[in-house]
Amino acid sequence: MCGIFGYIGKRTDSAKIVFDGLKSLEYRGYDSWGVAVLSKSSLKIFTKKAAGKIGNNNVNALPDGNIAIGHTRWATHGGVTDTNSHPHSDCSGNISIIHNGIFENYEDYKKKLVQKGHKFISETDTEVISHLVEDFSKKLTFSDSVKKTFNLMTGLNAIIAVKLIEDRIVAIRNGSPLVVGFGQDENFLASDASALLPFTKDVYFLEDDEMVILERGKVRVSNVKTGKIVRFKKQKLNWNVDQGEMGKYSSFMLKEINEQPKILREIAMSAGKNVEKISKIIKKSRGSYLVGCGSASYAAMAGTYLFSKIAGRHINFAIGSEFGYHLDFLNKDSLVIPISQSGETIDILESMKKAKERGAGIVSLVNVLGSSLYRMSDEKILIGAGPEKSVASTKALTGMIAHLVLLSFSLDGGVKKGKKALLEAANSIKKILSGKDSKNIKKLADIICDSKNIYVIGRGLSYPTALETAMKIKEISYIHAEGLAAGELKHGPLALVTKGTPCIAFLPNDETYGANLAGAMEMKARGGFVIGISFKSHEVFDYYIQVKDVGIATMIPNIVVGQLLAYFLTIKKGLDVDKPRNLAKSVTVK
Ligand code: F6R
Repeated sequence: MCGIFGYIGKRTDSAKIVFDGLKSLEYRGYDSWGVAVLSKSSLKIFTKKAAGKIGNNNVNALPDGNIAIGHTRWATHGGVTDTNSHPHSDCSGNISIIHNGIFENYEDYKKKLVQKGHKFISETDTEVISHLVEDFSKKLTFSDSVKKTFNLMTGLNAIIAVKLIEDRIVAIRNGSPLVVGFGQDENFLASDASALLPFTKDVYFLEDDEMVILERGKVRVSNVKTGKIVRFKKQKLNWNVDQGEMGKYSSFMLKEINEQPKILREIAMSAGKNVEKISKIIKKSRGSYLVGCGSASYAAMAGTYLFSKIAGRHINFAIGSEFGYHLDFLNKDSLVIPISQSGETIDILESMKKAKERGAGIVSLVNVLGSSLYRMSDEKILIGAGPEKSVASTKALTGMIAHLVLLSFSLDGGVKKGKKALLEAANSIKKILSGKDSKNIKKLADIICDSKNIYVIGRGLSYPTALETAMKIKEISYIHAEGLAAGELKHGPLALVTKGTPCIAFLPNDETYGANLAGAMEMKARGGFVIGISFKSHEVFDYYIQVKDVGIATMIPNIVVGQLLAYFLTIKKGLDVDKPRNLAKSVTVK
């Protein structure tokens, strides 16, 4: 949450470089934005910041300078106003700070600083950082002042600081991600490696408690707790710059939905020794958990069905934010499989730390190379979905499920069957995307777009499919949608179905068909408008969307139907599909 970008180097249009970097990071927070540039000729820091999305704004009015920092905000402390936007300054205006995270104990320091005469203009915790650095700078060097400030802060944070005359950017992280990008006579900082792709593929992911001092031709890293210099190793990013761009599509979500057949094929074709190695680790473990948040938790839940159905193997499932409360019995023989697109979701990282403390092994299923989760895991499977920019997860989620399909088949000794299933799923999605099916889904969106509530039911693998479809609908179209295990309907939720309520039922060609149909009938009998998503039509359906039967992998094309429905509902309502209100991608706060 919150996008950070910094530049120091030979170019003088640093404000523009940072501004463009921010645009590609906006999915991390879009309540407000801001850029500060150090002008040597005027001996002044110039700042432009504003509440709202970046939209058609620009930084043309900012002067030239070789150092600039910028921020996109997801508000925590203080409302969404111009003044609360970052960067924040000290009393003198010579220091500028941007911050990602929560400075939990900021009030204690704010009181003391006010008593000392410091003037605050915002309601943010971040402004306290600027004044602390100002205060310490009276006696200490700039970098030592930043370090001292950071060491006082409790909570998970990343800060970037600049000061007039100092030809450097100082940044420190603990919990919140920061990546250094290395250029020729220039260096960069970003909260997400994908933002660095237009400039460099050579990066270093800062570890917790590491401070970086970025100069034009030099990068120094040290540990803020021990003071020791860190001999870091650069990594090469394996994504291409065009993978992170919208290209011919009108939104990232539409682009990412359309990329899914290709990604599934690539996952199927590249499955090899790593899957077998990981399935051996799973077999050896005694007690294993799949853990994820939001959509990734539905992938994790799907994994429990896949492991059971394909490999006859039990695996537990937990939501990231809850896992920490029931891992007391983990030990060195346990295995935890965290699933995460960003690899930065704090609820996952925190519970993985606890699992590690208890000696459990960590094998992650993660999309971002070098992310915190990637680095803390004993073994990893890279999802291979490429950069995902739309806040609502699409291709990363189906990628997660694809790997779980492969793992399940591999546990059963037949990874080839898994590859075949994924290739069939890819073809089925291609059909849904390219032809009349997509039009059919759009027509459905036109019919139900004014609904207040939508219910989605399924059993077995269609249960996580129903949860995911409801999640996609509510988060981007703002229509209340509830995913349910079909069998639970009569235990309560059926009371909410009235004449015309849209009820989506997933009915794949598996053991759940008959019971799911019964659920659809129960909804119909209460006046529900039943939408059947199935391999064959049925008279109970008021609306029918066909999805070819591709066996156990049918849940993947079914999910894509849900994605498209959510997408068309959102477009019909004239909303921003990529940046839904109140949300941000990469949830780095608790
Ligand atoms: C929903 C969505 C979120 C994420 C969740 C976990 O469309 O995108 O629910 O799935 O925030 O994020 P990662 O996978 O980055 O850990």
